[in-house]
Amino acid sequence: MAVAKPIQIRFERYNGDVGIAPAKPPEVLAPGERTALVERATKLLRERDAVLVAHYYVHPDLQDLAQATGGTVSDSLEMARFGHEHKAGTVVVAGVRFMGETAKILNPEKRVLMPDLQAECSLDLATPADQFSAFCDAHPDRVVVVYANTSAAVKARSDWMVTSSIAEKIVAHLHHQGKKILWAPDKYLGDYVQRVTGADMLMWNAACVVHEEFKALQIEEMKLKHPGAKVLVHPESPRAVIALADAVGSTTGIIQAAERLGAKEYIVATDGGIIHQMRKRLPGVTFIEAPTAGKGATCQSCAHCPWMAMNGLHNLIETLEGKPGHEVFVDAETGRKAKLPIERMLEFAKKNLPQMKGSGDA
Ligand code: 13P
Ligand code: SF4
Repeated sequence: MAVAKPIQIRFERYNGDVGIAPAKPPEVLAPGERTALVERATKLLRERDAVLVAHYYVHPDLQDLAQATGGTVSDSLEMARFGHEHKAGTVVVAGVRFMGETAKILNPEKRVLMPDLQAECSLDLATPADQFSAFCDAHPDRVVVVYANTSAAVKARSDWMVTSSIAEKIVAHLHHQGKKILWAPDKYLGDYVQRVTGADMLMWNAACVVHEEFKALQIEEMKLKHPGAKVLVHPESPRAVIALADAVGSTTGIIQAAERLGAKEYIVATDGGIIHQMRKRLPGVTFIEAPTAGKGATCQSCAHCPWMAMNGLHNLIETLEGKPGHEVFVDAETGRKAKLPIERMLEFAKKNLPQMKGSGDA
């Protein structure tokens, strides 16, 4: 396979500077290649006592493979829970680095592998552990709540980890206890949770390069063309986009909302990878990717996370064949500290989200 040139992704750093991070272009399969690759990956997963845990944003081939081989396709909360409870000795995470790290922190005794360890997330990149720690030190009166999309070191400095499906409930719980919150890193999700819960939240500055690009005006124009369509929005999106939503939720929440609302058409403001599962669950329903670029403007992510797209069948097979450079390691002391806020969230989820399940059984 020819090695394609990396794409350079611009993201905003916590201090407002612009950072640039590379992402590899998605793999392109030769005609007729898919079936043999899927068979090979299926065989290797079985032979290596490995389970595939995939996010909704990765390529449909990997989503289908995870489901067909007893793994799961889910949001980040369920990915963490599933990998933790599954009996396989090896967990293969098809997603981005923080997802692999979370799996390793929860399961230090298991092998955790990823098709590409360079699969980043702009929220994680915009939150360097030393700067974040200094921010926490400056506000010792606040409970530190961090989003899952952060490094192990940032989680280790926190009191709670949350994902988008449980952030609102956990922050509301802390608010009712009279706690003030230091929130990081996603400013849009933080703003949304603050408005819904009324909690006192001091925010870090970071955004998702994918969701930040959705445009309210263009969604309104799209609604005029599709008057019956309902709008589904991930809360990493800007406030003006969330204001147009018929439902706001995590990736799993968005799929459940489509099942619940019963419309014939949906405008979906999150990574377009999710539409694969939505079509499988609701055949005959139309799903439209929400627009990401204003008039005359261009988008850089265009509703597809450039780092999620780095997962493919070729590098999954390489990973399962044992090629070096695919195993996730987390320093033992950092992992021990980071485990507490993650376990706190899982414990809370067990009590407060009894319906939580992905598309697979651990
Ligand atoms: P979910 O937990 O909703 O799947 O979100 C993860 C993510 O990275 C969204 O951009
Ligand atoms: Fe991070 Fe955004 Fe990609 Fe999710 S979609 S992994 S938040 S960059």
